[in-house]
Amino acid sequence: ETGESISRSEGHELAARFYHHVLMNTEQGKQAYDYLEARGITAELMERFQLGFSPDQPEVLKGLLDKRGFDLEQMEEQGLLYRQESSGELRDRFRNRIMFPIRDLRGRTVGFGGRTLGGAEPKYLNSPDSALFHKNELLYGFDVARKAVRRENTAVLFEGYSDVIAANKAGVDNGLASLGTSLTDRQAQIIRRNTERIIICYDGDNAGQEAAWRAGEVLEKQGLNVEAAMLPAQTDPDDYIQMHGMDRFQKEIIETALPFMSFKIQALKKDKNLQDEGDKLRYIEEVLKEMTALSRAVERDFYLRQLADEFSLSLDALKQEQYRIYKDKG
Ligand code: CTP
Ligand code: MN
Ligand code: MN
Ligand code: MN
Ligand code: MN
Repeated sequence: ETGESISRSEGHELAARFYHHVLMNTEQGKQAYDYLEARGITAELMERFQLGFSPDQPEVLKGLLDKRGFDLEQMEEQGLLYRQESSGELRDRFRNRIMFPIRDLRGRTVGFGGRTLGGAEPKYLNSPDSALFHKNELLYGFDVARKAVRRENTAVLFEGYSDVIAANKAGVDNGLASLGTSLTDRQAQIIRRNTERIIICYDGDNAGQEAAWRAGEVLEKQGLNVEAAMLPAQTDPDDYIQMHGMDRFQKEIIETALPFMSFKIQALKKDKNLQDEGDKLRYIEEVLKEMTALSRAVERDFYLRQLADEFSLSLDALKQEQYRIYKDKG
């Protein structure tokens, strides 16, 4: 078996067409179809992202792949099938899940994210890494968004599949998502090849905000101009669009995104009481430390003045403090 045949995507293409057909045209897919519709995902969006549904049967995709002459061992290596320990038999990996095909930049389907319909764990089951599927260098939705990303010289980065889809409906057609893990240098490089500017729009919970901080640093390292949007706590972009509509999402979330440094300043404030002297000094020190990451003197000056104004401090004192931090960093 050659390395080449193992990285071909035909099995995944067939699976995507099959799952999509089940969702769109069959009784088996009706519950999933209704669920998606209730979440505001229209048939048009189901088409654009080729959403699907995997039936709750152990060997339906396997049978189809077999009938079409695919090498089932290879389909196991690519993650569409797995070997069940108790029976030793190959079985469909994805069952009773809403299927999000993950495509590479050429539009080839190379993996899936499968969301449970009921409460089954995990909420999302994703394809394992293989010769075909490299999670570290793929971004969900990039094939759909690429043209818009280049045209607008801006990408919007989300956490979830459903955020990309909801945002696309809201007219944000330059949205992408990392695949459930923290953003990698490789993903950031690929984004950088297509745009200079990126807006991070992660979930409003603590996990999301912390992940946004980390992603911003990875993206800045690749030379991107980073902004970050703030969502209300416990809300993700999809929720926000459901609750408030697309106009408010555009105007109040996307258009009010902050430069990454301002985002970090806001975040550092969150767990502090700035009336408290100790917290205040800690906050000032932390902001000054973050400012050492700024490469442009004009920017450093801007944030330094902002800090001086906010606490009625002299620029001189702040500069001395900053100098001390620089020195400590070596
Ligand atoms: N994710 C994953 N595996 C999990 C949970 C999450 O891969 N067990 C990834 C998925 O790509 C998911 C993203 O992380 O889209 C964000 O997770 P979360 O916010 O929990 O899911 P949502 O996309 O908001 O899903 P939904 O609205 O359908 O609940
Ligand atoms: Mn279709
Ligand atoms: Mn989340
Ligand atoms: Mn979410
Ligand atoms: Mn969500």
